[in-house]
Amino acid sequence: MNLREFVRDIPDYPKKGIVFFDITPILSDPHAFRHAVDCLAEKFKDSGATKIVAAEARGFIFGAPLAYKMGIGFVPVRKPGKLPHKSRCVTYDLEYGTDTLCMHEDAIAPDEKILIIDDLLATGGTAEGMLRLVREAGGDIVGCGFVIQLGFLDGPRKMKDSGQEHCFLLE
Ligand code: PRP
Ligand code: ADE
Repeated sequence: MNLREFVRDIPDYPKKGIVFFDITPILSDPHAFRHAVDCLAEKFKDSGATKIVAAEARGFIFGAPLAYKMGIGFVPVRKPGKLPHKSRCVTYDLEYGTDTLCMHEDAIAPDEKILIIDDLLATGGTAEGMLRLVREAGGDIVGCGFVIQLGFLDGPRKMKDSGQEHCFLLE
């Protein structure tokens, strides 16, 4: 199955000059959605991960079923003000401006093996934010996976610079 056929390119969204890669056709096709989750599971089956960390909102869509399939835990990373318990937050750079993501302080045990999942790697700001949250919590990142990587943006280089290997299903 070619998952690329299930990604819709939307020019000039959310602003002029940006091409938005819309993954909702993957989600609405039961075979494509299952295929995407199964491919990620296959890539990480020997990772030894005991938890998946993923950011709202689109990271949850792939991270949660992957955790279910792998039989491991799931840790939601959320925008400020959404988590009820004591949280650690990081602010990171995006293409234009900054954003902040938070994670519960007790979500990860020291040296716990963590897999970071998101739908898409663009500038790498979100991934970098999650890497920082997990590292600051003492987690051991054993993998980082995306459905799509935008090779023409900075994300792939940022991952390399931070010493973190990653994989993706589509470019
Ligand atoms: C999107 C996407 C990634 C991030 C990638 O999320 O789901 O998390 O952008 O971009 P980056 O590599 O430049 O950080 P977004 O912040 O749009 O939020 P959403 O998931 O709630 O749509
Ligand atoms: N998140 C950041 N950049 C994106 C893009 N070009 N398409 C879809 N999601 C994105």
